[in-house]
Amino acid sequence: MPAELIDGVAIAARVRARVAAEAAVLAPRGLVPGLTVVLVGDDPASAVYVASKEKACHEAGMRGETIRLPATTTEAELLAVIDRLNADPAVHGILVQMPVPRHIDAQAVIRRIDPAKDVDGFHPVNAGKVLIGDPDAFAPCTPAGVQVLLTESGIETAGKEAVILGRSTIVGKPMAALLMQAGRGADCTVTVCHSRTRDLASHTRRADILIAAIGKPEMVTAEMVKPGAVVIDVGINRVEDPTAKQGYRIVGDVRFEEVRAVASHITPVPGGVGPMTIAMLLANTVRAARLTLVR
Ligand code: GUN
Repeated sequence: MPAELIDGVAIAARVRARVAAEAAVLAPRGLVPGLTVVLVGDDPASAVYVASKEKACHEAGMRGETIRLPATTTEAELLAVIDRLNADPAVHGILVQMPVPRHIDAQAVIRRIDPAKDVDGFHPVNAGKVLIGDPDAFAPCTPAGVQVLLTESGIETAGKEAVILGRSTIVGKPMAALLMQAGRGADCTVTVCHSRTRDLASHTRRADILIAAIGKPEMVTAEMVKPGAVVIDVGINRVEDPTAKQGYRIVGDVRFEEVRAVASHITPVPGGVGPMTIAMLLANTVRAARLTLVR
């Protein structure tokens, strides 16, 4: 029997509906959760992402705005914008869209954001909190979304072997931290594989939960997957396809059709992990707003 599909569109919609309900509870208390996205330069892909984040905020009854700055903006100017947003009580979440132009030090920008408004979960304070299992942490949206896909799909994680392909700062490393914690959607035994891992398949074949986040189109084949494993595909890769209207199509890091035949559950690309990222961004923002009430 082919694997059950994990429907990221449907699960993201449920998360967004919960966020909207939480925002509606805060509104009578005069608190409208607000996300400000800062976009530097005119990268067309970033412009699309940013527009969808703003729209998602509005759909959840939240305030969403984008500050668009020219590609010539200096690092000092960008830091001054962040300082202003840090000080603005109507702004609960700040997201600086990456990548920023090369003359700007992205890490310096991330470090300038108030960790309490860092709804991207990129600040070192939040990275540290994720690692120690602090419940106040803002976890990066993609790995947090993967964890919600697992819990919402009723997948038992406790005691399971989780193998993560990729050690990036925004997916692989925080994913490992989230899955190794004690608690719901966690308690896994975690292995992180990367470009220097020897005999990759010997690791992936042990995985009860296999998470591919390496950015290599269709790298994970059926023979790398243990029968019955849960396969989560974080990859979003463009591959040339002359038969497609745009001349390309989007594929994940997993060879979907053949892996589907051996896995028990699998996320499609698109429609799996992707929609969860914005949903978790909204969830982090509403939580950042709520936390201002108890501070
Ligand atoms: N660029 C692509 N994805 C993201 C994201 O999740 N956050 C930020 N800040 N920039 C991105």
